[in-house]
Amino acid sequence: MTSYTDAYADWRQRPEAWWEEAAAGIDWSRRWDRAFDPDMGAFGQWFAGGELNMCHNALDRHVAAGRGAQPALIWDSPAASSKRTLTYADLQDATARLAGALAARGVGRGDRVVIYMPMVPEAVMAMLACARIGAIHSVVFGGFAAPELAKRIEDAAPVAVISASCGIEPGRVVAYKPLLDEAIRLSAHKPATCFILQRPMLAAEMVAGRDIDLLDAMATSAPHACVSVAATDPLYILYTSGTTGKPKGVVRDCGGYAVALMHSMAMIYGVQAGDVYWCASDVGWVVGHSYIVYGPLLAGCTTVMFEGKPVGMPDAGAFWRVCAEHRVRVLFTAPTALRAIRQRDPELALMAQYDLSALDALYLAGERCDPPTAIWAAAHLGKPVVDHWWQTETGWPITAGFRGYGLEPPKPGSGGRACPGYDVQALDDAGVALPRGQSGNLCIRLPMPPGCAPTLWGSDALYRQAYLVDFPGWYRTGDAGEVDADGDVWIMGRTDDLINVAGHRLSTGQMEEILSGHPDVAECAVIGAADALKGQAPLGFVVLKAGVERPHADIAAELVARVRTTLGPVAAFRTALVVPRLPKTRSGKILRASIRRLADGQDANPPPTIEDLGALEDVLLALGGLR
Ligand code: COA
Ligand code: AMP
Repeated sequence: MTSYTDAYADWRQRPEAWWEEAAAGIDWSRRWDRAFDPDMGAFGQWFAGGELNMCHNALDRHVAAGRGAQPALIWDSPAASSKRTLTYADLQDATARLAGALAARGVGRGDRVVIYMPMVPEAVMAMLACARIGAIHSVVFGGFAAPELAKRIEDAAPVAVISASCGIEPGRVVAYKPLLDEAIRLSAHKPATCFILQRPMLAAEMVAGRDIDLLDAMATSAPHACVSVAATDPLYILYTSGTTGKPKGVVRDCGGYAVALMHSMAMIYGVQAGDVYWCASDVGWVVGHSYIVYGPLLAGCTTVMFEGKPVGMPDAGAFWRVCAEHRVRVLFTAPTALRAIRQRDPELALMAQYDLSALDALYLAGERCDPPTAIWAAAHLGKPVVDHWWQTETGWPITAGFRGYGLEPPKPGSGGRACPGYDVQALDDAGVALPRGQSGNLCIRLPMPPGCAPTLWGSDALYRQAYLVDFPGWYRTGDAGEVDADGDVWIMGRTDDLINVAGHRLSTGQMEEILSGHPDVAECAVIGAADALKGQAPLGFVVLKAGVERPHADIAAELVARVRTTLGPVAAFRTALVVPRLPKTRSGKILRASIRRLADGQDANPPPTIEDLGALEDVLLALGGLR
C-alpha cells in the first residue's frame, strides 16, 4: 500500500500528471486537451477540452460492466416507516425516465432545475436525471423557509422545479408544496414546470398547467440517453450562506468533480465497488451531493439514504440498526449526531444488539468534532473515528485521515492531514505563511485541486472577491487554525460571522438583517453561543426603539417566529434577549466577540477601545435571565 507521505510527495512533485492518473478512473467521451488550464475561470480549470457524462459514470457504466443487479441505493426511512432497495439497473431506468420527462418539458443542456425534496430516492433520481441531460441542478435543503427558496429560484432562474408534497420531521409532516408555491409567488422568475412527488402521507394541491405528477410523468416518458458535456460545464449550483442575506451560488464542474470524488472513495474512505457506504446527511448539503449521491455511485458502491434522525426513531440505536442491517462498511455523519446519541445512550448500550462486524470506520465532518466526543465514540465503537474538514466550496475533503493509505485516525480534535491536491497553510493577516504550530488564517495555495468550485454562479468577480483577493496566490477558507509540527491541521473557528449549528452553516449577519426588519428593533447582534448538542446555537440581542412599551416576551416571540418563517426552522433560532444597549467600541463597532465570550461563560475580554463597560453588564444580566 502506498503511504500517505509518498502519495503527498508524489502529488507535490507532479500535480498535473498525478491528477491525470486519477482521471483514468472515469469514463471520458473525449480526452481533455490540458489537465489544467490556468487561463480559464477565476483561477483556472481542470480537464479543459474533456467531455463526459456524470450520470453515465455513476450508473450506466456499472450496468454495462455487469453490476446491474447490485443494489445501488438502499432507502431506509424510519420517518416514513418504509424501506426500498434499487439496483443499478433500477436506478438507471428510473433516472433515464425522469430525464426523458424533463426533456419532454423542454429542459436541456445548461438549463437549471431546482430540486426541493426530502430524503427520498426520487431526489437522487432527480439529480442524476439532470446530469444525464446536461441540465444544472440546484438542490435546496428542505429546512429552509419559502423566502430562502425564492432567492435561490430567482438567482438560478430554473426552467423546472422538482419537489414533493411533504417531508417528515419528528412529530409532524412538513407540507413542502405550499412553501414552493409561496416561493414561486415571491420570486420574479417563474419556472414553467413543477414536477411534484405525491407522497402517501399528504397529497399536494396541483396548479393546473404548471404542476405535473412526477411518478405519472416518469411512467409515461421515454428513457433519455446520457448526453456528453464539457468537463468544465456546471453540474450543479449549491447555494450556501455568505456573510449577507444573499446566498452564494457555489458552482461545481463535471470533470474535475468526477475525478476528485472517484479518487477520494478509495484514497480517503478506503472503499471499493460493491462496498456499502452510508453518509447520514441530507442531499440538500454538499456532503449529501458528494457522498450520498455522486461519490459512492461513481465508485460502484451501494449508497444508503436515511430519512430520519439519529435519536427517537425509535431510539438512539437507529444508526447501529442501519449499519448492521445493511452491512455498512463506512459511516459518515456530523459530530452533532454523535452528541445527540451520547446524550440519550451514554454507554452505547443500544449498540450491543447489533452486529457491526462489517463497519470499518466512522467519518465525521460539518463542524469540528470536540475531542471528548471523538474519544468517546472511538472507545465505545472500537473502530477508527476520523474527523475530516471541508466546505461547500471544495466539494470534497481538504484534510482527512486516509484509510486508503493505512493512516492512523487523526488526533482527536484535529481535522487530519492535507489531502493530496491541497497545500494548506496558516497565514498571518499580511499573507505570510506562519511557522508550524502557529494559528492564523487557513488558506490553500492556488490552484485549487479538481472538484473545487471553479466560480460562483454568474460571477468570476464575486468568486475572486470572496476567496482570492485577501491573500494573493491563495484561497481563503474563512477558517482559522494551525498546521502542527506533524502536518496535522487544527480548525478552530471561523474568521467571519458564519456559525455552525448542528453541522449547518448559517450567517449571523443574515439573522441580524431579519431581526432589524422588525418594527420595534433599533439595533441588534446575533452571535453563535456554544451549545452542548448542536456545537453552536444562535442567540440574538436586540435594543428596542425609544418609546416601545410592549412586553419584551411578546417581541422576543415575534423575533423567533420571524427568523423561522424568513430563514427557516434549520436556523434553530430560539432566543432573542432585549437589552438596553449593546457593547460597542468608540467607533461604534458592536463587540460581538465579547458578547459571545460572556454567553459561553468566559471573561468578556473587552478591547481598550470599549465605549461603555456597563453595556457588557447589561448583556450579562440578560444572559442571567436565561440560566
Ligand atoms: N425539512 C423541514 N424541516 C427541517 C428539515 C427538513 N429537511 N430538517 C430540519 N428541519 C427542522 C427540524 O424539524 C427542526 O424544527 P423544530 O424547530 O420544529 O424542532 C429544525 O429544523 C432544526 O433541525 P435540526 O437541526 O435537525 O435539529 P433537531 O433538533 O431536529 O435534531 C439532531 C438534532 C442533532 C438530531 C440533528 O440536527 C441531526 O441529526 N444532525 C445531523 C446533522 C447533519 O447531518 N448535518 C449535515 C452536515 S454534515
Ligand atoms: P459547509 O460549507 O456547510 O460544509 O461548511 C463549511 C464549514 O464548516 C467550514 O468552513 C468549517 O468552518 C466547518 N467545518 C466543516 N467540517 C469541519 C471539520 N471537520 N472540522 C472543523 N470545521 C469544519
